[in-house]
Amino acid sequence: MAHHRRAELLSDRAALRTRMAAWRESHQIVALVPTMGALHEGHLSLVRLIAARADRLLVSIFVNPAQFTPSEDFSAYPRTLEADREKLGATVDAIYCPPVADIYPADFVTSISLEGPATTGLEDRFRPTHFKGVATVVAKLFLQTTPHLAVFGEKDFQQLCVIRQMVRDLELPVNVVAAPTIREADGLALSSRNVYLSEGERAAAPLIYHTLTQCAERLRQGDEANLVLAEGVAILEKSGFSVDYLEWRQADTLQPATTIEQPSRLLVAARIGVTRLIDNIAV
Ligand code: PAF
Repeated sequence: MAHHRRAELLSDRAALRTRMAAWRESHQIVALVPTMGALHEGHLSLVRLIAARADRLLVSIFVNPAQFTPSEDFSAYPRTLEADREKLGATVDAIYCPPVADIYPADFVTSISLEGPATTGLEDRFRPTHFKGVATVVAKLFLQTTPHLAVFGEKDFQQLCVIRQMVRDLELPVNVVAAPTIREADGLALSSRNVYLSEGERAAAPLIYHTLTQCAERLRQGDEANLVLAEGVAILEKSGFSVDYLEWRQADTLQPATTIEQPSRLLVAARIGVTRLIDNIAV
């Protein structure tokens, strides 16, 4: 039987510290792929994208309680460490999966909250404390793991903007790399939450991407934006989605877009059954 190589498991802060000290001592370029586990092809694409640019790859797996709002799926969120480790195989050097107390000790009271991209009325309207939780944990993971590079998916586009802004504002010495969204053959963006979809919902879900592409096409043709967006919402709602937002925004600031001359994105969040899906594309 072939020898089955797997990433080293760093299951607490002390193990991480030892490993990082050794890598730093030998001047290795370290890339971090922060995740909450339940890994799928989208995460693996982040690993592949960054692999060529680093000597050492570290994946963190931490289901961050601070970024879930009380009504959300924190306790039900899929936790699949063994399967995740299996999927990563030997493509990464180490997996950091700390206990909650190694990120948030009992006396932890600090948080990082941003304005700007974190408060543009997209995800923040529906998940008011979400980006405070994301920014705080990402800053903490950066400080614990001291990576040269870190990669984030464009799937969570507002999150990517929030992290870029935080890194700029605090001058965190990390190079943030964005990775394109990976989709199923029918267009559905990969997400750990897709496992919650029933068969019927899964069949309906690609309409999100198809609606985005149709709306983007119409915006490029010069159709009136308010009309395009309203019709996009109507198409989704007719098929059983509850649309939280469908918005056309500038790609860098997430402020409302008014022209296709500047880089812009269409961003959507829609609920079907108990599942909330988000997606976005460039216009
Ligand atoms: O995108 C995610 O999986 C999470 O928001 C992140 C960046 C790992 C922070 O918990």
